[in-house]
Amino acid sequence: MIRVAILTVSDRAARGEAEDLSGPAIVALVQEQLRASIAQRQIVPDEQALIQRTLVAWADSGEVDLILTTGGTGFAPRDVTPEATQAVIDRPAPGIAEAMRAASLLMTPHAMLSRAAAGMRGRVLIVNLPGSPKAVRENLAVILPVLPHAVELLQQGAQTTAYQHALPGEHGAA
Ligand code: MTE
Repeated sequence: MIRVAILTVSDRAARGEAEDLSGPAIVALVQEQLRASIAQRQIVPDEQALIQRTLVAWADSGEVDLILTTGGTGFAPRDVTPEATQAVIDRPAPGIAEAMRAASLLMTPHAMLSRAAAGMRGRVLIVNLPGSPKAVRENLAVILPVLPHAVELLQQGAQTTAYQHALPGEHGAA
């Protein structure tokens, strides 16, 4: 079972001025379509240090396989989710973000305004999604079919300690 953590990045939702509709939309989609378990869920404001701290804590907890963020990927000065993500990953996964943008461009030209990033920290995949529930549904639909294989590849060798090669950023890595 894939263990998913969901981070909503929004100043207004963090202040309680707006309801977080995108976090629950992700919960429903990953439960229905991946049969995933929800390991963590949180709402944080658009503060890069706070986003990074949350991503690192979750990725290094050993209790999460996949982190999905929503919001803060656009052009507004406070949109810093991609920068926070890039600062904590040790390997980028550009194909995931490219595929989401390419498919989304067929639906709306606004797709080119998403700066969403994706990558791995140790054995945990982190993917940025845009902020609106509609954008969440459309972008997740693109990547859901490949997520089980992506997570499976990241887990390779995790159970065999004898010849295990520690990944960059993994606990105990040199
Ligand atoms: N992608 C899809 N599939 N559907 C959408 O409606 N909205 C876009 C884009 N990606 C959208 C989308 C818009 S309007 C913006 S500004 C960017 O995502 C960034 O969104 P964010 O700032 O909420 O993260």
